[in-house]
Amino acid sequence: MKLHTKMMALLVAGAMVFATGCSSSSTESTTEETTTTEESTESTEGTEATEEGTETSAATLEEGKLLMSTNATFPPYEYYDGDTIVGIDAEIAAALAEKMGVELEIADMEFESALAAVQTGQSDMVMAGVTVTEDRLENMDFTESYATGVQVVIVPEDSDITTIDDLEGKLIGVQQGTTGDIYCSDTPENGGYGEENVQKFGSGPLAVEALKNGQVDCVVIDNEPAKSYVEANEGLKILDTEFAVEDYAIGVAKGNTALLDELNAALDELEADGTLQAIVDKYIHE
Ligand code: ARG
Repeated sequence: MKLHTKMMALLVAGAMVFATGCSSSSTESTTEETTTTEESTESTEGTEATEEGTETSAATLEEGKLLMSTNATFPPYEYYDGDTIVGIDAEIAAALAEKMGVELEIADMEFESALAAVQTGQSDMVMAGVTVTEDRLENMDFTESYATGVQVVIVPEDSDITTIDDLEGKLIGVQQGTTGDIYCSDTPENGGYGEENVQKFGSGPLAVEALKNGQVDCVVIDNEPAKSYVEANEGLKILDTEFAVEDYAIGVAKGNTALLDELNAALDELEADGTLQAIVDKYIHE
């Protein structure tokens, strides 16, 4: 089992990010545990709601709401069960919203749009199995990490690709804008395989479909979705070599420390009371 060390260098430990959070939240809300915003009238549709600095409410775009952007093609983190988006991220987000006394709203979109949404003020947070990377840290802030992801390689069962080194010169399928895309599209000097050897798809399932049709030779994607895609499709397997190990965290607009602190505090509580682990265990059975 060997790791691509050059790729690892691109990754940043979520823990490091967290180290700067918490402690000195100057003027903002003195977290009253029992504050559950005016129960009486359920959101007065915009009228009074935009007063700035209402100390009791969460630091979100719309009072009383937590808007989450995601890309729900990524089981077991976010995917559709009928018309509902379920999964680890969806459930953790719901638990966070409950702790914060706000209502969760999930918007499903392309992965890259889900990332961009926090920077353009369309969503409060992106939760989509998002890997913390140095590049992303330039445009957004991340909470502490709540999960680990591993980039893996899916191949047809009879493939001649047996290790990562065999990927050279092969056509690699990825989900556009993901770390799998970013690493693979990089130049060989930087540990990648070159843009010309990478085919980008709108989602993991579309990339896997192309693999089944022989349009690409392999798919590089996060391990848990990979397991789920392989389970749902005959004739595929996951290589026994890890491509890169990553930290998943929640992304917020750069500089939104108030929200970041609230999310980190709520995450801490969910970790301490066992909720986080219970949600993960519900979806991932080793
Ligand atoms: N962890 C990878 C990244 O951050 C892939 C995430 C894709 N997530 C999704 N919901 N489709 O780039």
